[in-house]
Amino acid sequence: MKIHVLHSNLKELTAPSLLIPVFEDENHFNPFAASLNHLLHGQLSTLAESGEIPGRFGEFLVFRPENFHISRLIFVGVGKRKEFSLDRLRSAAAKAAQSARALRASALAVPVGHSVSLDPETSAQAVVEGAMLGLYEFRKYKNEPPPVKGNFPAEIHLIVENAREIAAAKKGGESGRIIGEAVIFTKNLVNEPSNVMTPSAFAEEAQKISKSLKLGIEILDETQIRKLGMGAFLSVAQGSKEKPKLIVIQYRGGSKQSLTLGLVGKGVTFDSGGISIKPSENMHLMVDDMAGAAACLGAVKAIAELRIPLNVIAVLPLAENLPDGGSYKPGDIVKSYLGKTIEVINTDAEGRLLLCDALAYICTMNVDAVVDLATLTGGMGIALGSAAAGLFSTHERLLQTLLKVGDEVTEPLWHLPLFPHYTLQVKGTFADLKNSSGRQASPCSAAAFLREFVGDTPWAHLDIASMAFIDSDKIPLKQRLYLPKSGATGVGVRTLTALAERLSKRKNL
Ligand code: BES
Ligand code: MN
Ligand code: ZN
Repeated sequence: MKIHVLHSNLKELTAPSLLIPVFEDENHFNPFAASLNHLLHGQLSTLAESGEIPGRFGEFLVFRPENFHISRLIFVGVGKRKEFSLDRLRSAAAKAAQSARALRASALAVPVGHSVSLDPETSAQAVVEGAMLGLYEFRKYKNEPPPVKGNFPAEIHLIVENAREIAAAKKGGESGRIIGEAVIFTKNLVNEPSNVMTPSAFAEEAQKISKSLKLGIEILDETQIRKLGMGAFLSVAQGSKEKPKLIVIQYRGGSKQSLTLGLVGKGVTFDSGGISIKPSENMHLMVDDMAGAAACLGAVKAIAELRIPLNVIAVLPLAENLPDGGSYKPGDIVKSYLGKTIEVINTDAEGRLLLCDALAYICTMNVDAVVDLATLTGGMGIALGSAAAGLFSTHERLLQTLLKVGDEVTEPLWHLPLFPHYTLQVKGTFADLKNSSGRQASPCSAAAFLREFVGDTPWAHLDIASMAFIDSDKIPLKQRLYLPKSGATGVGVRTLTALAERLSKRKNL
């Protein structure tokens, strides 16, 4: 996607399509639409009088004005003025980009900044993200050609009202392009089926990214993981022919004073449940069980490309959870990297077994904070649906920062408790801990289990189980028009990138 920023009057726009956001509760034209109407000798007034211009969020209309160089005007409803937000603009850009594609328009122009009453940098970023994500499709395995062949629209033209907004819009547009690409990268990793996206294939992707961005990388194989003593992680992998991988990636963008952010992501490339096998009905959705690891890798890519002045270390444990003669079994007792022993009650509570070793390991690496992302418990969908991911933390400022950035990028997070009660729930009978205590407050007891492995390192855990993948009717996610109808959402990439941006401005957490 090519991004241009233009400060020009409407007469000089070269893009053949233009997005015009419309408020539901305003029946007068905003200054931008008013000057357009003037150029069009009142064609828009006539259209408005007919009542055809939509205002309700998500509705749209394509108008082909007569005798005008911009042949397609795409009106997109953005709802009530006071409900308008960056995310609504992101959605409108997605809708307009999809429409521009259907119309085979080579470029789409979008007003940003002051003309839509938003900050030029963040609105430019949101528009580019929205357009790129709205155009995303995972068609790799379809022989049927797409409805529109060719790359439409290949360009986004960000239009600013004032020359003073150009620099900010350029910066935002470039960030949007980098972040949009990173989210798409993550979506592709998650959407790939598990027969393709094995732990080894994932490790190769990480290797490629590291090479092109000059990141430090180590990929540990089974033998090396065993040498480290990660008995919990390894037990999950032992039923699969696919060998586990532990990926350690380092980005050094900071100086000596900069903070180091640790990232850990659950990377179960397929979760059948193992011997405690899952019902078959929705098992195919468990290809998304590496969405945490994929989000961390996508975020590292974005952080490095944006050259955020911060140090980041990501530790990503990758494995496949299958039933087999060699599988780990309920009742097994395994020894973690930290030395704590764990009784396996349920082989389907495998995520915490990978994560506990990865977390304990990253905590030995002098990180100032560690954030883990995991599709950890089905209980998240029961508790919050897909309105928000669960957020647990041992550190107040890290918690508040995450809530804030999640809100800013519209990847909502909801703070859930770590009551001492949950720690009692995961106390083992014959070992130090047990990996499952049933369905009661499962997101909370899973988080309490993980806390046992981070020591004093400030830590936050995001349970993204109900946010990572769209299948059936996930209504809150369907409000965000730049998300796909089905498949991976890439959740976490934008939050982690925004978190890194913030932490890069701090000397202390
Ligand atoms: N990967 C699943 C969690 C999951 C379920 C993610 C549905 C997305 C959609 C996880 O490994 C799991 O199976 N968790 C169990 C834990 C239980 C056995 C304590 C669960 O949530 O049922
Ligand atoms: Mn499981
Ligand atoms: Zn799982």
